[in-house]
Amino acid sequence: MDQNAMKKQAAQAALQYVKPDTIVGVGSGSTVNLFIEALGTMRNQIKGAVAASKNSEALLRKQGIEVFSANDVDSLDIYVDGADEINPQKMMIKGGGAALTREKIVAALAKTFICIVDKSKQVEVLSAEFPLPVEVIPMARSQVARKLASLGGAPEYREGVVTDNGNIILDVYRFPILEPIEMEKNLNNIAGVVTNGIFALRGADIVIVGTPEGAQIID
Ligand code: 5RP
Repeated sequence: MDQNAMKKQAAQAALQYVKPDTIVGVGSGSTVNLFIEALGTMRNQIKGAVAASKNSEALLRKQGIEVFSANDVDSLDIYVDGADEINPQKMMIKGGGAALTREKIVAALAKTFICIVDKSKQVEVLSAEFPLPVEVIPMARSQVARKLASLGGAPEYREGVVTDNGNIILDVYRFPILEPIEMEKNLNNIAGVVTNGIFALRGADIVIVGTPEGAQIID
């Protein structure tokens, strides 16, 4: 079974957590795009969605789903998003699609974070393989890169990418993260860092993994 089919299984299985008459938090990325497509079949049962990227916003509208601003809601019942990596503690690396900051904001509104991934995303140690994305205010790019290098990583400027918030992304290579909560806090304290892609302080509550044997639910 190919990766896309496994992503589709996870996306489809997430529909069982969508409650009628609620506003659904929706992340971004290719797995979430499949979830949005599936959510379209429930468009008449939900109030709408809050999206974590302009791209997801456009796709939700295309499905006939009303999009609310994060400022319009006090809380969300669920937030559904993908991940670049997820560990057994349900902590994640996110931001492969450069939407990490808005993803963290919408996730923070949700009672339940549902992470939908294919099985290739499951790892023991975060960021040992996938580089850690860090969203940075453009004027702080060089100094933040120096600081990340002094912490042992190899930061690379993601050429040609501007986030939905008008910032840039540094991808930190060779940066295995052994203490995700501490590292998430430390990196967010660097002047010029908007957010880093470690989702450990607020990890997932439920993980749905697409596998050749079907969708596996870890809660
Ligand atoms: C975007 C993200 C995505 O959730 C992450 O990159 C996974 O993407 P995909 O579902 O395409 O594999 O964090 O910023």
